[in-house]
Amino acid sequence: MHRPIIALDFPNQNEVLRFLSQFPDDLSLFVKVGMELFYQEGPSIVHLLKEKGHDVFLDLKLHDIPNTVQSAMKGIAKLGVTMTNVHAAGGVAMMEAALAGLHAGSQSHQKVPILLAVTQLTSTSEEMMQADQGIKMSLNESVLHYATQVKKSGLDGVVCSALEVEMLKDHLGESFVCLTPGIRPTDSQQGDQKRVVTPKQARRIGSDYIVVGRPITQAADPYAAYQRITEEWNGVK
Ligand code: C5P
Repeated sequence: MHRPIIALDFPNQNEVLRFLSQFPDDLSLFVKVGMELFYQEGPSIVHLLKEKGHDVFLDLKLHDIPNTVQSAMKGIAKLGVTMTNVHAAGGVAMMEAALAGLHAGSQSHQKVPILLAVTQLTSTSEEMMQADQGIKMSLNESVLHYATQVKKSGLDGVVCSALEVEMLKDHLGESFVCLTPGIRPTDSQQGDQKRVVTPKQARRIGSDYIVVGRPITQAADPYAAYQRITEEWNGVK
């Protein structure tokens, strides 16, 4: 079974532990630690989650000069995360440096973490992109342009809207990894996500990984919600 990645959008470790206590102890989850949690708890939250047997996607979206990103990625690899990411806007040299840092920080017995890039944030509209970033292309063209740079840099793939997966796989190949947030099971609230798809649609479209936050973290019974979404994502129902 492929596991949906649960976004642990909590302000501190205590809330994470309270949330995880609602899952069976021996269940290995794939969880996402973002800026909110990491900037409060630091590397110890990653160690704790790994000790509990979970895989960690460290979602810090690095964007800085190549040398700094390379050193930071070396440290991130040492934490033993399964997946992490950068902003494609940092450029090919930065992305290559990120990858080099991950290789340098990974032990020989350890898999090098999966490295993804963010192209355009899904909160960015075409009008905003053109006005704020001075990019003259359409949003889709910009996403494809960045994704092409991501592939050229040797990264595994991108974080993208489910609506972009088909275009990206057509141009960059089936093995180019597409991770999609903005997932809502048929029976849940949309929250502030505008362009959402169900786990079933995400599978049909070809997403390789889905990130799910509130439909699991805010559910009355998070484990039941997780099981339903996992089944839908794997085509069991
Ligand atoms: O609660 P929800 O399912 O909307 O959470 C989605 C998670 O994915 C959040 O952690 C959010 O920051 C993240 N995310 C997103 N859209 C992106 C990239 C990341 O919603 N384009």
